[in-house]
Amino acid sequence: MANLFDVPQFIQDAPSRAAEPVSNAAPTQAAVVFDNVGKVFAGTRGASTAALADVTLNVARGEVFGIIGRSGAGKSTLLRLVNGLEKPSSGAVRVNGVSVGELDERGLVTLRRRIGMVFQHFNLLSAKTVRENIALPLKIAGVPKAAIDAKVDALLALVGLAAKRDAYPASLSGGQKQRVGIARALVTDPDILLCDEATSALDPETTQAILALLRDINRRLKLTVVLITHEMQVIREVCDTVAVIERGRVVETGPVWRVFGEPQHDATRALLRTLVHDLPADLAERVKPLADIAQADARVLLDVRFTGDDARDPDLAGLASALSVDGSSVSFVHGGIDRIQGHAQGRLIVSAQVRANERASVHAQIAALLERARGHANHVEVLGYV
Ligand SMILES: Nc1ncnc2c1ncn2[C@@H]1O[C@H](COP(=O)(O)OP(=O)(O)O)[C@@H](O)[C@H]1O
Ligand SMILES: [Mg+2]
Repeated sequence: MANLFDVPQFIQDAPSRAAEPVSNAAPTQAAVVFDNVGKVFAGTRGASTAALADVTLNVARGEVFGIIGRSGAGKSTLLRLVNGLEKPSSGAVRVNGVSVGELDERGLVTLRRRIGMVFQHFNLLSAKTVRENIALPLKIAGVPKAAIDAKVDALLALVGLAAKRDAYPASLSGGQKQRVGIARALVTDPDILLCDEATSALDPETTQAILALLRDINRRLKLTVVLITHEMQVIREVCDTVAVIERGRVVETGPVWRVFGEPQHDATRALLRTLVHDLPADLAERVKPLADIAQADARVLLDVRFTGDDARDPDLAGLASALSVDGSSVSFVHGGIDRIQGHAQGRLIVSAQVRANERASVHAQIAALLERARGHANHVEVLGYV
């Protein structure tokens, strides 16, 4: 098929098929649609790698969409399909309603002007100044010098690097280099920005600054951002929606607060492990299984989770009084609440005293405690006793 960006020409040429590009467009405001995409790389001696399989995703216009997964999961391949650096082996990738795999060379050039890309290792030309690096895509496109200068100066101001206009990349810090990379990606006024591990080579503080810049650009320029990372905290900082990819397949997707608050897949839980408040080692060593509990006056250890699903914030006083029988003590021993997209969620490890009680067995008392605690949190489990 010819260049689908020339829709008016297309309609003139073939009026009977004029409806086709329209029906190709996603019904929603999707900027990027992955429609049952598969990608197989042919290897040596007939071996082949299925890098992606059955990938179906919608990236809404104007959102920051995060793709997370372990190394080798297929993240970079997924991103490279968006700007046509790779072609799908099956299915279709549509950008603004246009199937990327069907574009000819001219169509790809037009497409890539609409899509900026930022890389982990910045990919700056060391022999060119900051200004020249940013200007390069426009110079190649034959834009007049005055227009290029105006554009570069505006972008340098946007990324906070006006003072480094004539510096060479070697004299810049990692964060400054990435700011140049971002400015260069924006120079053709794209409406989609792809970021492949854009903060993975940066220290935590610089990562925060670059993420804040990406968020600012997303809001100010109404840019759709597709960002891939192996770091969960990057997703938490900036993304609206997240897709978790494992061995080439999307195993989970949804609003960040929902996926973080109640992960459904082992791969997601494994990636989240760096962020959640896991049972501290000293407690893990001391905790004994509930079946062994002999007499009361033990302390049960409870795993209490808030998924952020409720309209109300966690009611800790209510939880404490539900767990406190006849004035027995309740302690919050570990954990925390985070706020993601306005949803308070987290995990608390709570210890509650179970007293000797002539009328009820220890197990019956613990069952009653659990029952009451569950009225104040989304999930409550007994980890054991100490
Ligand atoms: N050009 C290629 N040729 C052959 N195999 C590739 C190529 N690009 C990626 N792969 C393979 O596809 C899988 C996914 O790679 P990639 O998309 O780079 O993962 P990620 O970015 O999540 O680390 C890996 O097994 C990788 O070796
Ligand atoms: Mg990669």
